[in-house]
Amino acid sequence: MTGTRNYQDLGLVNSREMLKKAFEGKYAVPAYNFNNMEQLQAITIGCVETKSPVILQCSGSARKYANATMLPFMAMGAVKMARALGSSIPISLHLDHGGSFELAKSCIGSGFSSIMIDGSHHPFEENVKVTRQVVEYAHARNVTVEGELGVLAGIEDEVTSAVSHYTKPEEVEAFVNGTGVDSLAISIGTSHGAYKFKLKPGEEPPPLRFDILEEVEKRVPGLPIVLHGASTIIPEYVEAINQFGGKLDDAVGISDEQLRKAANSAVCKINIDSDGRLAMTAAIRKIFAENPEEFDPRKYLGPARDALVEMIRQKNEEVLASAGKA
Ligand code: G3H
Ligand code: 13P
Ligand code: ZN
Repeated sequence: MTGTRNYQDLGLVNSREMLKKAFEGKYAVPAYNFNNMEQLQAITIGCVETKSPVILQCSGSARKYANATMLPFMAMGAVKMARALGSSIPISLHLDHGGSFELAKSCIGSGFSSIMIDGSHHPFEENVKVTRQVVEYAHARNVTVEGELGVLAGIEDEVTSAVSHYTKPEEVEAFVNGTGVDSLAISIGTSHGAYKFKLKPGEEPPPLRFDILEEVEKRVPGLPIVLHGASTIIPEYVEAINQFGGKLDDAVGISDEQLRKAANSAVCKINIDSDGRLAMTAAIRKIFAENPEEFDPRKYLGPARDALVEMIRQKNEEVLASAGKA
């Protein structure tokens, strides 16, 4: 039992207003994944300093890792920290890739303000059914819901797919009308994790399928679209990890230029997890390699946190254009 409380009591907001503003203002709200205190502090500091709205997101397994009872209070801590820094940025707590109605219900009961129900691996009718069930429950409690159509390659919280299936624009209207979702994640060529494309030497990653996005926009005008698997796999971090004993061969992601184009469209929420993991790991590996005698966690988690703040600042200011919007 994780308790029954309203997200408002934790100082959180649902994502409706922030996504609406992002749609109108042609930028994207950052959704950063977290599962520990240093990540949460870095996200909070980075978004406070850049005056950006933020979605704190957490997968089912990340929730288990952080402890489902403690997690909502961590999010409340982030809100309190932002306020203590003199900031009024809106903060949502969002379930990333929720796999069932029961998980969605448990998260809402514990204080989540926003839910993703990911039925994308189910046949269409089943996806509609489970998504609608979550929407009805969530909307009765003023919690917002993100659905997904189309499958991204990679790991989606314990759901793994070797291949991606682009979203079929012709299915979108029936899905949105049949479920009542507040936003929709689509598959246009991104994927989860650090290996988004298999490239031959000298080859550039293929562009995202903006033609599919445009078709979707036409069929559900005004609906906020969500882009998952949107890490850049920042080369400096990959190089540092490899330099200091790691092994990430041929890791490659989505270019800043493609993400800027997406943020300027109906894409109102952009999900970033892997880049944050890389930023922290690069900092920690460097410290361990250069200071083998170090064993105080603050001495490596502190710099890892600083690296994550810097990454968040760069994303908000130079890629998502969410800086200054809160
Ligand atoms: O989309 C998946 C996210 O990157 C979360 O990953 O299930 O390892 O927490 P996770
Ligand atoms: P990345 O693995 O590209 O960071 O994607 C994260 C994501 O989509 C979380 O839902
Ligand atoms: Zn995702």
